[in-house]
Amino acid sequence: MRKFKSLSIIIAITMVMFLLVSCGNKEAAGTDTNTGTADAKVIKMAFNQSENHPQYKAMSEFSDELFEKTNGAYKIEISPNELLGSQKESFESVQNGSIEMALVANTIVENVDQNFTFLSLPYVFDSIDHQKEVFVSDILTDLFNGTEQKGFNVLTAFTAGTRSIYTDKPIEKPEDLKGYKIRVMESPTSIKMLEAMGGVATPMAQGEVYTAIQQNVIEGGENNEITYADLKHYEVSPYYSNTKHLMIPDLVIINSDFFNTMDDETKAIVHELSKKYTEREFELWNEQIEGAKKEAVDAGATFIDVDIKPFQENCKPLIDETISKSEESKAIYEEIRGMAK
Ligand code: GCU
Repeated sequence: MRKFKSLSIIIAITMVMFLLVSCGNKEAAGTDTNTGTADAKVIKMAFNQSENHPQYKAMSEFSDELFEKTNGAYKIEISPNELLGSQKESFESVQNGSIEMALVANTIVENVDQNFTFLSLPYVFDSIDHQKEVFVSDILTDLFNGTEQKGFNVLTAFTAGTRSIYTDKPIEKPEDLKGYKIRVMESPTSIKMLEAMGGVATPMAQGEVYTAIQQNVIEGGENNEITYADLKHYEVSPYYSNTKHLMIPDLVIINSDFFNTMDDETKAIVHELSKKYTEREFELWNEQIEGAKKEAVDAGATFIDVDIKPFQENCKPLIDETISKSEESKAIYEEIRGMAK
C-alpha cells in the first residue's frame, strides 16, 4: 500500500513537471504579437535600424498577416538594431542559410549582382510617388527573380526615402564638399557618386557612422531624414542640406533553399503580402517623415534648401557610364525615367 502511495506521488510530480515544461516551451516560442505558437516556423530576419522605423513596423504587420494566412505555420521574428550583424554580415547569413531573411540596402545586393547597380545610381527617382509607382508595378519582377542561383530571392523593394548630405556646415554647391570626408554605403557606385558630387567618399557600415563623425574620422554622412533622426546623427552633424541625390531602395531578401521548402500556396501568400506591405511601408514612411524632421529641428538641426542642378550635372557622366554597360539595365532605367512626372 505504502509502495503504491509513493508511486502515485512520483507519477503526480512527473505530470506536473511535464505540464510546466511544455507551458514554458510555448511561451519561449511565442512573440509579443503571436503568443502560444509552439508549432510555427520562426523566420529569423535581420534589420539594422530601430523598432520605430517604418520598415520594422511594416514587417511586423507582414508577420502577423503571414501567421494568420498560413494558419499559424510561419511567423517572422525581426531582430532590430544590427543585433544579427551589419547589413553586409546579415546578407551573408541569409546567403549561407544561418538566418532566413534580412532587409538590406540595394548597394549590398549590387555587390553580388551587377544587374542591380542602376538602382544605386543618383537621381533615378524624382519623388516618393514616382518610386512608389515603380515598386508596386511589375517593372522590377524579372530583376528580382534573377538572384536565386546566388542563394537568395528578392521579395520586394521598400522605400528608404530620399538621401541628402549632413555635416557641420551647409552644403549648397559641389565646391562646399571639397576635402570633406563623407560616409557612404559600401558600394563602388556610392563611392563614385559622392566623388562626383565634390566630396571624399568614406565607405563604412551604418552602425559606425555616429562615432566616426564624433571622433572626426569623417566630416559627415548622407542619409534620409528618418534614419538621420532615428540614429540621432543630428547630434554630431547638425546641418542637413537637401541635395536629394539618392533614393536607393532597401530589399527584402529570403534564403532560396528555405523559400523553396514552402509549398506553392504559401509562396503565393508571401508574394501577395510582399506587394501589400510595400505599399503599406510607403504609407508609414510618409506618416513619419515630418515627425523625424521635427525631432531633429527641436534638437538643434537645420535643414537647408539646395539647388540640386549642379549636383545632378556632376553625376550625369556616372549615370551614363553605368547604364550603358547593360542593355537590360538601360531599358529598365529608361522605363523608370519615363514614369517620372
Ligand atoms: C538607410 C537605409 C539602410 C542603410 C542605411 C545606410 O537607412 O534604409 O538600408 O543601411 O541607410 O546608410 O547604411
